[in-house]
Amino acid sequence: MDSSSSVMMKTTSLSFTILILSLISVLRIASGCYTSIFAFGDSLTDTGNYVNMFSQIFPEKQKLPRYAFLPYGETYFHHPTGRASDGRIIIDFIAEYYGLPLVPTYYSVMNNQSGSKFQAGVNFAVVGAPALDVAFYEERGIHYTTSNISMRTQLSWFKELLPSLCNSSSCPQIFKSSLIVFGPFGGNDYGHAFFQGRSLEEANALVPLVIHAIGSAVDELIELGVKNIMVPGLLTDGCIPITLTKYEASNIKDYDPATGCLNWLNNFSKNHNERLKAELNRIREKHPHAVIMYANYFDAVMRIYRSPRQYGFRGRPLMACCGAGGPPYNYNFTAVCGDPSTTVCAQPSLYISWDGAHCTEATYRIIAKGLLEGPYTTPPINTSCTFITKDSGYALAMTSTE
Ligand SMILES: *[C@@H]1O[C@H](CO)[C@@H](O)[C@H](O)[C@H]1NC(C)=O
Ligand SMILES: *[C@@H]1O[C@H](CO)[C@@H](O)[C@H](O)[C@H]1NC(C)=O
Ligand SMILES: *[C@@H]1O[C@H](CO)[C@@H](O)[C@H](O)[C@H]1NC(C)=O
Ligand SMILES: *[C@@H]1O[C@H](CO)[C@@H](O)[C@H](O)[C@H]1NC(C)=O
Ligand SMILES: *[C@@H]1O[C@H](CO)[C@@H](O)[C@H](O)[C@H]1NC(C)=O
Ligand SMILES: *[C@@H]1O[C@H](CO)[C@@H](O)[C@H](O)[C@H]1NC(C)=O
Repeated sequence: MDSSSSVMMKTTSLSFTILILSLISVLRIASGCYTSIFAFGDSLTDTGNYVNMFSQIFPEKQKLPRYAFLPYGETYFHHPTGRASDGRIIIDFIAEYYGLPLVPTYYSVMNNQSGSKFQAGVNFAVVGAPALDVAFYEERGIHYTTSNISMRTQLSWFKELLPSLCNSSSCPQIFKSSLIVFGPFGGNDYGHAFFQGRSLEEANALVPLVIHAIGSAVDELIELGVKNIMVPGLLTDGCIPITLTKYEASNIKDYDPATGCLNWLNNFSKNHNERLKAELNRIREKHPHAVIMYANYFDAVMRIYRSPRQYGFRGRPLMACCGAGGPPYNYNFTAVCGDPSTTVCAQPSLYISWDGAHCTEATYRIIAKGLLEGPYTTPPINTSCTFITKDSGYALAMTSTE
């Protein structure tokens, strides 16, 4: 083939690609696909806010948190991004599924790093964010060393952006095609209480307060015009290396024989989730026109602990990939992932847990797939447009071995 015909072919295929892409965007709007994503949450959802805001939050601290360094980010981005994982997290897979760019962080939007493209969405999530305000915990002697940014702070950032966001159209018009991912929240509330020596009873007493706070925020978002909101429940906190190590001396009866997870702690997460579902039902009755989806993160990951090999995981399913601890969990409180004495496993995709507290990209991908393709969102998330993305980036992402 001579060079001129090859150029022509390239030009033709380029125009064809452009045609297909324009067709896709028309179809996407026509079929009710989400065109933007707004996310709130903690380290399970943060894609860089914490690391980038760190010097503002803690002007006196010299060293950035570990999420700002390798091996965080090594698998997919090949550099640290502030995500608490080796690669992409759930919110990234959701954005890819709908053919959207990775949701820009609130930090980047405020600093014009994403060309002020917040019309495509904003991620407000910050590592460590509790559902209740930090001051609430300080008053009760539970100390927050991670940051002073709570769920309500993120909500106030969102509200401050509304005048510029809902500028060309009204907020309800804009939010008609937006997906809001609200959480999960609560993990830091309970985690700080447990890790600062509070009893199960004391943690149980927090649950109604946390649920009420989440419910009020969801209610407020809907009053502000939000239409489609996904509210995730807690993950399986009884299966992660950090809690398994803390409660390692537990009675054998405390463990689930099938998985090795701590029954009482998973039960605690389940109780939170049941109350959250009841709260969402109450809000649905009040706002019948809003689409309020419960995202069952718990069962989406529990199936992996039950049959790890079926999902491609190898070795010990309760052991972290990155750490300095050795078996059975590879977690050491004085040397966490990223510290000099820690090592990283050769293949993170064979591990469920990345650093003992957060999952690997491989796990997040499977959770996201379960949310998007079912059956882990109730009611099911809108996939009336996914025939478009199935053939494009998303399908590749799901089969990629990276
Ligand atoms: C999904 O999108 C279609 C098309 O816009 C819409 O009619 C339907 O109500 C949506 N369903 C949900 C659950 O969001
Ligand atoms: C958090 O602390 C920083 C530094 O002290 C302060 O500037 C900021 O206003 C605080 N934010 C909240 C939400 O309390
Ligand atoms: C971001 O953009 C706005 C509007 O274009 C401008 O007023 C502001 O100064 C910019 N901020 C930075 C940090 O560049
Ligand atoms: C709304 O958009 C117009 C045109 O882009 C701009 O001039 C105006 O300042 C914006 N208003 C707000 C409140 O951001
Ligand atoms: C699970 O939680 C419920 C509600 O708090 C409690 O009644 C039950 O005893 C718990 N079961 C286990 C195994 O911890
Ligand atoms: C945990 O790490 C510290 C610091 O590197 C080390 O001294 C200690 O022996 C480790 N503990 C275990 C159980 O590996």
